[in-house]
Amino acid sequence: MQRYEKNMTDRKKSLQQELSVSKKKCIFARMRTLVFATNNKHKLHEVSEMLKGVVEIKSLEEMGLAGDIPETADTLQGNALQKAQWVWERTQMDCFADDTGLEVDALGGAPGVYSARYAGEHCSFDDNVNKMLSEMEGKTNRKADFRTVVCLIENGEPRYFEGRVDGTILTERYGEQGFGYDPIFMPDRFAVSFAEMPLEVKNQISHRGRAIAQLVEYLKACSTNK
Ligand code: IMP
Repeated sequence: MQRYEKNMTDRKKSLQQELSVSKKKCIFARMRTLVFATNNKHKLHEVSEMLKGVVEIKSLEEMGLAGDIPETADTLQGNALQKAQWVWERTQMDCFADDTGLEVDALGGAPGVYSARYAGEHCSFDDNVNKMLSEMEGKTNRKADFRTVVCLIENGEPRYFEGRVDGTILTERYGEQGFGYDPIFMPDRFAVSFAEMPLEVKNQISHRGRAIAQLVEYLKACSTNK
């Protein structure tokens, strides 16, 4: 009887060990998938670079989702939630969205949440930059910041991450990289605009880079706690 019990205990222990090894293998073998709610190819590229090896990103195109995502809230958090919810409602998949605002001191924090449509509905990045350069003509206080809020939706529940970078609005365009206001924004402690930096450098210091770094930290913590 005693020998039978010992055999059973040994068998149980070995089964438990096997189970724990296969659970660990499972964590490393299967990377999580998140849908990124953006139609902006530059953003998709920036963020995909930062999430490499952490999660697999699916774009809206890969999910077969077309059309403009509404962003009608009056806060960055509200817009990020709205965009992520748009994807969640259509896919029921864990997803995230970001919303960014350029806040200029001399313009009382404008354009802020309205940065995409600063020069009017359906305007281009170039139109926005032109308007900013003309509004800032002759201004000596050129301080500004970019702020990004990322909203992650997991199982229908939102969670937020925020990033910010301070800098200066330049008096003319510099550089060809990036998008949006990049050619006229020079981050503090740098002597070049965002549009003159390699992507790896922009990602390390930018508003979006900082918000995504927090998202990465959270996702990594989740996978090790499983
Ligand atoms: P969105 O709503 O997050 O797409 O951002 C609003 C607007 O801010 C965009 O249309 C861009 O003009 C600008 N923007 C967002 N992120 C960046 C950036 O990293 N660099 C420069 N401009 C940006």
